[in-house]
Amino acid sequence: MKDLKCEITIDEMGNIFAVRPGRRKDVPATFIGSHLDTQPTGGRYDGILGVLSGVESLKRMDEMGLETEGGVGVVNWTNEEGARFPVSMIASGVWAECIPLSKAHNLKEVPTVASLPTAASAPETMKSALEKINYLGDVPCSYKTTPMAAHFELHIEQGPHLVSAGQRVGVVTAVQAYRWFRLKIIGRDTHTGTTAFEHRADALYAFALMMVRAREVAAAKGCLASVGIIEVAPGSVNTVPGQVSFSLDIRGPETALVAEVERELRSDFDKIAATEGAGIGKPCRVEWTLDFDSPAVKFHEDCIDCVQQSAHAVVADAPVADTKALVRPIMSGAGHDSVFTSKRVPTSMIFVPCKDGLSHHPEEFSSADDCATGASVILQAVVRYDRK
Ligand code: GLV
Ligand code: MN
Ligand code: MN
Ligand code: MN
Repeated sequence: MKDLKCEITIDEMGNIFAVRPGRRKDVPATFIGSHLDTQPTGGRYDGILGVLSGVESLKRMDEMGLETEGGVGVVNWTNEEGARFPVSMIASGVWAECIPLSKAHNLKEVPTVASLPTAASAPETMKSALEKINYLGDVPCSYKTTPMAAHFELHIEQGPHLVSAGQRVGVVTAVQAYRWFRLKIIGRDTHTGTTAFEHRADALYAFALMMVRAREVAAAKGCLASVGIIEVAPGSVNTVPGQVSFSLDIRGPETALVAEVERELRSDFDKIAATEGAGIGKPCRVEWTLDFDSPAVKFHEDCIDCVQQSAHAVVADAPVADTKALVRPIMSGAGHDSVFTSKRVPTSMIFVPCKDGLSHHPEEFSSADDCATGASVILQAVVRYDRK
């Protein structure tokens, strides 16, 4: 981006912005953005494709000598996954002024990362980790300081719909709702060899029942519920666990449905906890902490139009009878930085197929052809938006 003479800024969340200036200096740039961070086992496309498509678009514009009215930018958003610092889309959330900077800076890395042999003895915070890699910038992280005309994002679908239908491009119209919780079950440590079942307040047994219940309740409402992190204490073969902490991720197509699943699970988990240990008059207790709440999002019509027109133009010479059928509207099951940019500026997204619909896995894969199709669509969509 320096070679292309872009203006580069790094803000206090480590977000990296590069802008290729347009004819007018008085209007904000239209951005292509996504993230470079990933999950514990990869893959190599979730987020990264979106950033690379922005870099490629700017290079291509330069090669073509294309002038735009406003500037065109590319942004790499920090910690979109929330895999290491467990709030997803946090840096675009700070930029949108939906998440306070202090909350983001003070966020601690998850225990599974903190306990890796290579980790420092104390868990890093977001701020200390940014400092360590020299990416704690001094530009305020805000849409007011780094404004955008619009935000477009290219991403692999991470699900099976495009690939199973043989379709080339998803025009993303919406993102489903999700909430992330941390829960703690408090029971009582006791001896495994001497404590009858009815005399136990086994936090791990209560957890197992809760996990089964979470799936049943979510499934009945067309939602999803998942546990991804679990810590059991004290962690001994012959002690009944007195404490379990776990993460809970609830998702659904409507904000109200996610709220219903949460309400039902709060009541059911209380009942499960009350039963385990009731025999000794020391029932388990369960505590909930809400870490993150992302209501369902609908993207901006103008951006969706630009993506749709561009997608049809790009697939127009495919060797099939009905090229229109290669493009479809689609809702995102995953969260993306576009969720937060959409709170402040017109936003939409483009999906391309990925092999077996697989993501958050080392075998995550999209063909070079599919990546190129997506990159062509996003470049055209940005130019169309600039000319609107
Ligand atoms: C964000 O990547 C999410 O959907 O968890
Ligand atoms: Mn992503
Ligand atoms: Mn991801
Ligand atoms: Mn992601």
